[in-house]
Amino acid sequence: MKASRIVIAAGSLAALSIVAFSSLTHEAVAASGAETLAVRKAVMRSIATHFGAIKGAIVSGDQNRIKAAARHAMAMNWLSAGIPTVTPQGSGLNAGKSRALPKIWEDWAGFKKAAAGLTTESGKLAAALKTGDAKAAMAQFANTGKIGCGGCHRFFRAKKK
Ligand code: HEC
Repeated sequence: MKASRIVIAAGSLAALSIVAFSSLTHEAVAASGAETLAVRKAVMRSIATHFGAIKGAIVSGDQNRIKAAARHAMAMNWLSAGIPTVTPQGSGLNAGKSRALPKIWEDWAGFKKAAAGLTTESGKLAAALKTGDAKAAMAQFANTGKIGCGGCHRFFRAKKK
């Protein structure tokens, strides 16, 4: 085989492997996107479960239950810090059924700020619950829902169809 032919053959082989490699990485990204989407939904449902448990404790009026519910607020506090991590590029609609709006990745700083908002509010909620004061805890529960959850959902989550 002439040297020029070998060069061409090697060149097309390289091109082929680039195509094969890029489709492989594309698939890998898509798969991890779907996986991340499922994890994000699980994180959200977990946050919502803790939030519901806190409401139940406050409504019961039982001081010991209210104080103990600070653990749920701390769990929310901890989980909220991981929201951006479970929301990478490629884990939105292209990864499956999702209500995550493209605005998340267009305004990444704003999204991170919204997650930090829940971190702050749930921290305050833990502090309020620790006092055992139902009234103070309920006031901060409302703030957490409005500022913490609403501050993100209002801008970054699509309306239910
Ligand atoms: C920083 C943004 C952010 C914060 C803060 C946030 N969420 Fe979400 N939440 C989202 C996004 C985005 C989705 C849509 C996820 C998807 O479908 O990909 C979502 C979805 C959900 C879902 C639906 C999960 C599912 O199974 O589809 C629930 C429930 C939920 N959030 C509850 C809460 C509660 C309760 C709070 C506050 C205590 C909260 N979220 C705070 C961004 C946030």
